[in-house]
Amino acid sequence: MTSLPAGITIRPVTIPTRADDPDGADFRAMSGVRNAVYEEISGHTDHSMSAESLLPHYRDDPYEKRMTWLVLDDDEPVGRIGVDLPIERESTLAFVLVELRRAAWGRGIGGAALEMIERVAREHGRQTLQTWVEHPEAPGGRLHPPTGFGSVPAEDHAARFLARRGFALEQVERCSALDLRASWDRVRTLRDDALEAAVGYRVVSWTLPTPSEFTAGYAWMKSRMVTDAPSAALEYDDEVWDAARVATHDERYLEAGQTMLVTAAQHIATGELCAFNELVIAADRSEATHQEDTLVLSRHRGHRLGMLVKCEGLLAWRAIAPDSPRVLTYNAEENRPMLDINEAIGFAPIAYEGAWKKVLR
Ligand SMILES: CC(C)(COP(=O)(O)OP(=O)(O)OC[C@H]1O[C@@H](n2cnc3c(N)ncnc32)[C@H](O)[C@@H]1OP(=O)(O)O)[C@@H](O)C(=O)NCCC(=O)NCCS
Repeated sequence: MTSLPAGITIRPVTIPTRADDPDGADFRAMSGVRNAVYEEISGHTDHSMSAESLLPHYRDDPYEKRMTWLVLDDDEPVGRIGVDLPIERESTLAFVLVELRRAAWGRGIGGAALEMIERVAREHGRQTLQTWVEHPEAPGGRLHPPTGFGSVPAEDHAARFLARRGFALEQVERCSALDLRASWDRVRTLRDDALEAAVGYRVVSWTLPTPSEFTAGYAWMKSRMVTDAPSAALEYDDEVWDAARVATHDERYLEAGQTMLVTAAQHIATGELCAFNELVIAADRSEATHQEDTLVLSRHRGHRLGMLVKCEGLLAWRAIAPDSPRVLTYNAEENRPMLDINEAIGFAPIAYEGAWKKVLR
């Protein structure tokens, strides 16, 4: 096994009860390193989250085991390592990350961290490692995923690092931003057109916690995210969502001080929820908004419901977060129907991520 460079230590991060507890120092350091790494890569702070906001998302729950380590260089935090294990029946998956401050690159820390990750994954019976990485533009050759959509620079440090260690680029994801300070006329027109086309459906919406009348429908749609969204050769477990899982999900966001607006389309004749969109913002509502899941259930496609829930959500968002400057969203580069909607609304690409997979032998 490769040894760590001199002066480097890796230690497991304790998840404190509160972020400002005395035993929360490593968690706070881990949050700080996370934000610094993302800012170094993307050049902006829209991905930043406070330790208080991150903490609830790291608590143990029945659906996922999260393990996190802090990387220290002579006691100075320079990175973090993560292994997330879905607790679904017979899961073989591990979602992993190594994130180091730029000044710590190229010394063999990443390689040693990846070896540790592989060992931990094997110990937990997981063979398939998957990771998502933003790749800033760089000159030189390109790597193309088997989907045939998008590419990443082959000479980007992380792309080279992963490719040389047995990871395959499976999918390219586009990160797009919508300027919330621009005119809303286009969104209103698109909403009106979609409403006219969506005969037999109505829009319902709520901020978390999910009202009981919508729990079953929301749970079903959340479970379909892993089956109905384009995932290339990436692997996901089937997820079972019930009222308890929705409650755990909702508690995470509420405890983090985040506001989530869910905008859904309901089939009027049956009452079924069949499309939804999520917008999220931190306690500080002057920060960037993040669009999380959006889905139209397969058998309800073709009625402009995607456009409808996105536009209705954005229009309602004006009252909830009037000072938020933009919305960020991620889409698979081959997901043309979703990209068409986003582009029509005014979302423009700002970055590309690679989705990488390695199957351990
Ligand atoms: C990608 C990342 C984890 C790589 O970490 P790293 O510490 O730079 O990785 P290493 O130092 O082990 O290897 C990087 C290169 O440095 C070289 N190297 C390794 N040890 C070295 C040493 N002692 N001296 C000089 N160079 C060295 C290696 O040959 C390697 O080259 P290669 O990738 O072409 O094989 C790091 O850049 C990072 O955190 N990036 C941001 C987050 C990210 O993209 N993570 C992706 C993985 S989830």
